[in-house]
Amino acid sequence: MNSPTHAPTTAPAKIAVLGTGGGARAHAAKLLELGHEVHVGTRDPQTTLARTEPDMMGNPPCAQWLADHPGITLSTFGEAADAADDLVINGIDGRNAVSALTAIAGPLTGKTLADYAVPFRYDPQIEHPWPTPWGVMPTLDPCDSDSLGEQIQRALPDVKVVKSFVTQEQATVVNPGAIGGGDHTMFVAGDHADAKQQVTDLLASYGWTDILDLGPLVCARGMEMYAHLHSAIGFGLGQRSGGHFGIKVVR
Ligand SMILES: NC(=O)c1ccc[n+]([C@@H]2O[C@H](COP(=O)([O-])OP(=O)(O)OC[C@H]3O[C@@H](n4cnc5c(N)ncnc54)[C@H](OP(=O)(O)O)[C@@H]3O)[C@@H](O)[C@H]2O)c1
Repeated sequence: MNSPTHAPTTAPAKIAVLGTGGGARAHAAKLLELGHEVHVGTRDPQTTLARTEPDMMGNPPCAQWLADHPGITLSTFGEAADAADDLVINGIDGRNAVSALTAIAGPLTGKTLADYAVPFRYDPQIEHPWPTPWGVMPTLDPCDSDSLGEQIQRALPDVKVVKSFVTQEQATVVNPGAIGGGDHTMFVAGDHADAKQQVTDLLASYGWTDILDLGPLVCARGMEMYAHLHSAIGFGLGQRSGGHFGIKVVR
């Protein structure tokens, strides 16, 4: 990869994490641990803080999680993005990411957007033979001829979109050493070399040693479509995996 043309993200920085789901929380907690100033974005902070029930994936209410992680700031998506120096992580669910990010185009302008969202469409009318916690297997939309990463980049031409993290549970993305001693592969794809280097530096600070640059953002298609194989591997491993496994490109 090219030499960094930005301040390494391993130096303390203001970083935004858009989203309050389990994946976003994994990144926010790790970034806090690494000494960064972390700004988490949500649609409406008051509504988010008022929740008292776990979310559909069983994550505890956000207020409880924030109390366990003093120092993390919760604000709107736009305020969080505005507070970031130059790196924003997108953890807004895939079906709503383009519209939610387009609404905050101003604060995102010129910044790197590391996107791990999957464009899952949950449609209970579409049956699928695979068992899932939500009963049916979601489909991907877009798929094959486009990707969510590319949609976001087209909607936000002044933002540097990097697709990454998406091929694993985020708990292992921020702690790769938990699987196979860290001997597995993480991918990056994007059309901006400096932004890809920035995300690569972030991954290295998480502990990744095998980071494969797939090339342009069009490669986000394969990364997103891998979601189905990721699910299938998880089902194949059963309860033992808990979703925590990695993939290794052997060469
Ligand atoms: N969790 C993982 O380990 C993992 C791994 C790989 C890929 N992914 C993908 O990454 C994405 C994020 O996953 P996640 O688990 O971190 O969180 P998630 O539970 O999928 O999404 C939660 C976030 O989406 C926002 N959201 C929901 N509906 C919205 C709407 N109508 N408009 C705007 N925002 C909306 C929520 O906003 P509020 O904060 O306001 O509720 C919340 O911040 C998903 O596409 C997921 O499939 C996740």
